[in-house]
Amino acid sequence: MYHFSVDSGLSKPEHYRELAAAAQALVAGEPDSVANMANLAALIWQFVPDLNWAGFYRVVDGGLVLGPFQGKAACIRIPFGQGVCGAAAASAQTQLVADVHAFPGHIACDADSRSELVVPVIHHGSVVAVIDLDSPLPARFDADDAAGIEALAQMIGPAIAS
Ligand code: SME
Repeated sequence: MYHFSVDSGLSKPEHYRELAAAAQALVAGEPDSVANMANLAALIWQFVPDLNWAGFYRVVDGGLVLGPFQGKAACIRIPFGQGVCGAAAASAQTQLVADVHAFPGHIACDADSRSELVVPVIHHGSVVAVIDLDSPLPARFDADDAAGIEALAQMIGPAIAS
């Protein structure tokens, strides 16, 4: 059994450092990428408040394919360059979207989503997956959230690349 407690008295950067430490402990020594993505999605869901979706899209044959996640059932395949996830994968850049309805080509997998943060996971110089967080609150994510999830993404490449 794993027990990770979330201390609500921490600042946001401290909170993300706790998340990264928990993530490192969770994937240590485990080579199975699906198991690691599943646990990481659950950990993000537990640590990051006000989400309606959190999980992974993996790069498979030049497109994105749904990976382990928490939230409602979602779109399975997203071409590079399409939607927020496809933009993150194609550009290898974080996408921080305050209002998904204002993002050209946003793919509405869950009608509740209002804002979104997508961070690419880069391993051996290539994007291998993206971490996608959706919130029902407008402008839910800020630079601290982006930096926190980017730090996580930097750490987990070897654990989730198949
Ligand atoms: N909204 C995303 C699609 C994935 S779902 O949010 C889970 C996008 O535009 O890429």
